[in-house]
Amino acid sequence: MTGGAIDDPAAFYTAGYSLADHEEGLRMGRWRALGARNKAAHARTLCARAGVSPRRVVEIGCGDGSLLLELAAIWDSAELDGFELSPPAIEIARGRGIPRAGRLEAYDGTRVPAQDGAYDLAVLSHVLEHVPDPAPLLAEAARVARHVLVEVPLEDNRSAARPAKRAEAERIGHLHAFSRGDVRALVTAAGLRIAGELSDPLPREHHAFFAEGAAARAKAAAKWAVRAAAWRIAPEGGEKFFTVHYAVLTEHR
Ligand SMILES: C[S@@+](CC[C@H](N)C(=O)[O-])C[C@H]1O[C@@H](n2cnc3c(N)ncnc32)[C@H](O)[C@@H]1O
Repeated sequence: MTGGAIDDPAAFYTAGYSLADHEEGLRMGRWRALGARNKAAHARTLCARAGVSPRRVVEIGCGDGSLLLELAAIWDSAELDGFELSPPAIEIARGRGIPRAGRLEAYDGTRVPAQDGAYDLAVLSHVLEHVPDPAPLLAEAARVARHVLVEVPLEDNRSAARPAKRAEAERIGHLHAFSRGDVRALVTAAGLRIAGELSDPLPREHHAFFAEGAAARAKAAAKWAVRAAAWRIAPEGGEKFFTVHYAVLTEHR
């Protein structure tokens, strides 16, 4: 697990959701929507396996609400709140008409403005790798909810360690390159126990999203095929070589 810092996180993520280029803003919206479908499928699978049917859900670091929109579809009577560091992201989330959304609020990134045990499930999706010290934010999630679902990219691997990949991860604000063991240790230290976990080498559409031209698309398809095959043979072994998304459902011990 590496560590790092961003001088002003609120300004960094405000800029990230305020792209001046309209076309690029739309493209990033489509990218987030694609990712949200995978993340929601992970949440649905893990909760179903554990017999968890959350009625009150909070997403901490909900960004522009892409995932909340998908979660509203899979849990069709759940009430959903979202808290987020970036005010423009919350403005986008509010404009989405997310069914059964309650509080969609910007907050200070430290103290979630909700009472202890206010929720059945807190979701920290692709957030812990963005914060300098993940433990206090995880503890906040555990304070406000009975179950905590964490999802992160596992970037402690040979492919992600290449300088160009590290530079790209840092550009988008990744301060940590987690292994599965790092995440397990974090949740255990937060007083949580693992109720279920899964990893995903991600679908072809994900790998091909930024590919432009036939050659790049063919390369992305080949990369996806190799990773998917390696992952099927040895899911945890592959994590040493390439990035997968890892989702873990936890509950209080
Ligand atoms: C990669 S995005 C993930 C958005 C969403 N959770 C998803 O999975 O689609 C990371 C988000 O974490 C937010 N973030 C960073 N630090 C945070 C903090 N301390 N508390 C809450 N959100 C934070 C960023 O503003 C950004 O919206």
